[in-house]
Amino acid sequence: MQKYRIITYGCQMNIHESEKIAGILEHMGYSECAEVSDADIIVFNTCCIRDNAEKRALGNIGAIKHLKKSKPNLIIAVLGCMTQQDGAGLTLRQKYPYVDIVLGTNNLFELEKCIIEAKNSKKKSVLIDPGEKPPIAENEKVYRTSGCNAWLNIMYGCNNFCTYCIVPYVRGRERSRKLVNILDEFKMLVDSGYKEITLLGQNVNSYGHDLDDGSNFADLLYQISKIEGKFRVRFMTSHPKDLNRDVIDIIAASPNICNNIHLPIQSGSNKILKLMNRHYTREYYLDTIAAIKSKIPDCGITTDLMVGFPYEEEEDFQDTLDIVRKVRYSSAFTFIYSVRKGTKAAQMPQVSPEISKDRIKRLIAEQNLITKALSKEYEGNTYEVLCEDKAPKKQGYLCGRTDSGRMVTFAADDTCLGQFVDVKIQKSQSASLFGALAEEK
Ligand code: SAH
Ligand code: SF4
Ligand code: F3S
Repeated sequence: MQKYRIITYGCQMNIHESEKIAGILEHMGYSECAEVSDADIIVFNTCCIRDNAEKRALGNIGAIKHLKKSKPNLIIAVLGCMTQQDGAGLTLRQKYPYVDIVLGTNNLFELEKCIIEAKNSKKKSVLIDPGEKPPIAENEKVYRTSGCNAWLNIMYGCNNFCTYCIVPYVRGRERSRKLVNILDEFKMLVDSGYKEITLLGQNVNSYGHDLDDGSNFADLLYQISKIEGKFRVRFMTSHPKDLNRDVIDIIAASPNICNNIHLPIQSGSNKILKLMNRHYTREYYLDTIAAIKSKIPDCGITTDLMVGFPYEEEEDFQDTLDIVRKVRYSSAFTFIYSVRKGTKAAQMPQVSPEISKDRIKRLIAEQNLITKALSKEYEGNTYEVLCEDKAPKKQGYLCGRTDSGRMVTFAADDTCLGQFVDVKIQKSQSASLFGALAEEK
């Protein structure tokens, strides 16, 4: 049997897209293998959000050149966001001539055809459709690989053009899936036994703006929350400018929608937020946080933070630290700004890497203190946890998340996998929680 290996970089969107790539390959009769050296086809599903993501992918594409020598029929394909950058497809083919297939994110459906051509006539393909609004593919073959968790796209693309970000250039404009298609896929997932379903979009709160049937995110969440069965819903990512009170109310009122909101602020400085084209102020953001905390007191709030954006002074950075202290995020993804060619911020004066490195260290230290203090508050309490997986390197232990999104490790046998259990938290260690199955009531 022919084997495939997919190497994925980037966000949840890409992880889910790799499940679609796997779906195509499984349908063609390939089966998955763990090592690139065993594979007959290797697919790189790339990301270009920051320079290091891109370098890592290119380094790994370079590192498998030798495999092609010992296995001339090996097929190498490069897909994902990196290929959609201006001119990237051709550059890839020139610099890595042993790559057989380069496909843009809008050309995924052509993978099967390209593989057949590469196999039968050694044909090389570069297919990149920079289409701003390509049609949405429905009924895709998805080979899901994340246990009892499932990803579900509700929309594609982004209209926001934050000045640092490459995503609108490589993913095109916002396209929402029809409500009925999302509900059908959701029901199918619940019926197939998935217990936690995460709705995906770059800005889920603007879901439906491009449809003419009045659909919106609050209504979508409401309709999902009424589907029968025992499941949890999460969603990402929310843009602070669009997260409205209706959505907060529906989360508060629906036990099956997790009390967990990822609300990337990027910076705490109004000057920097304006330069980033984020369309909100720190005051507006803090108002939203206050509304969340009053309606959903146990809500886990997480964020993305960036340091070293052009024109960022110490004072602006202090505003970011101040927001971190005020909001008390359960955790935060922290990034050093990375110049992306073709974006507006690439034209702005850059902050030195030394200053950025110093700031990110201080930011991480500040957030770590908060994460640790919040973890302590979980100790002694009991939470419903979905047993998602075996705990890494810990025989006889499982791990899973609380409704608020905190990861817990606890002793339980594998028969609990995919089940909801009550876990009493005994100990915390920075972001990690450790507990034991609570006694039956
Ligand atoms: N659509 C989502 C996030 C997409 S990218 C949103 O708007 O929140 C995920 C995160 O990567 C962003 O929130 C941002 O913090 C970070 N990011 C995006 N572009 C970046 C860049 N050029 N340099 C550093 N970090 C970046
Ligand atoms: Fe990028 Fe901004 Fe769109 Fe998020 S909202 S994907 S950060 S442009
Ligand atoms: Fe995601 Fe990276 Fe593309 S973060 S949308 S895979 S550029």
